[in-house]
Amino acid sequence: MDIIIANKSHGVYADIICNTIEESANIRGTGIARRTPEYILQRMDNGNAVIALDGDQFVGFCYIEKWNHGKFVANSGLIVHPNYRGKGVAKMIKKKIFEHSRAKFPDAKVFSITTGLPVMKMNSELGYKPVTFSELTDDQEFWKGCQTCKNYDVLQRTGQSMCLCTGMLYDPKSESKSKKKIKENVFKRWKSIKQTRFLKKNKNERS
Ligand SMILES: CC(C)(COP(=O)(O)OP(=O)(O)OC[C@H]1O[C@@H](n2cnc3c(N)ncnc32)[C@H](O)[C@@H]1OP(=O)(O)O)[C@@H](O)C(=O)NCCC(=O)NCCS
Repeated sequence: MDIIIANKSHGVYADIICNTIEESANIRGTGIARRTPEYILQRMDNGNAVIALDGDQFVGFCYIEKWNHGKFVANSGLIVHPNYRGKGVAKMIKKKIFEHSRAKFPDAKVFSITTGLPVMKMNSELGYKPVTFSELTDDQEFWKGCQTCKNYDVLQRTGQSMCLCTGMLYDPKSESKSKKKIKENVFKRWKSIKQTRFLKKNKNERS
């Protein structure tokens, strides 16, 4: 298996990447920031994406987005093909894209918003900390990505201050680089409190 910085030559995988992201979101019943193959291609062209391949088979993907003119970067769109899950591939992709982000944008704060336990676990191990949304980018282009999420009304109702997603941030200037593991039972309790508080009665769970 190869986990590499994607380039123009990987454009042939843009369709399967978009389809796999969309199908996985549909199966989980989650909202996502929808991306087109053109958008994915642009990230590859700029050297702002990581792709995992098994020979010429698509295995996984993740890309970097720059916000507030490079003050923040997000590692987004993490996807592992269903045939390759549970083997540590996401962990390797996250590590590679995090190291690439740090090397390419050394002064940028790296952040992510997610409802998913696997992503929270991986972020914590890389040194991210949970933060309020006020600590994240105020670049409205980023938050526009939430418009395609089925919980967008929650974000609107709270004036963009909170939602079902948890914000996580790696601050390169932060003194403390202690990496704490997320406790699964604590995470589940926290998620359940948020859902009870924010979701209307007939709304499905996000992830
Ligand atoms: C989430 C996803 C990327 C994980 O990929 P993966 O290659 O199976 O993950 P890994 O095997 O590298 O596991 C990474 C960590 O997450 C944990 N994990 C993986 N799937 C999990 C699940 N369904 N529930 C709880 N923990 C899970 C693993 O146990 C591991 O943690 P550990 O090191 O403490 O054991 C993959 O399931 C996927 O593509 N899902 C659909 C898209 C998605 O949800 N993307 C994230 C958007 S925020």
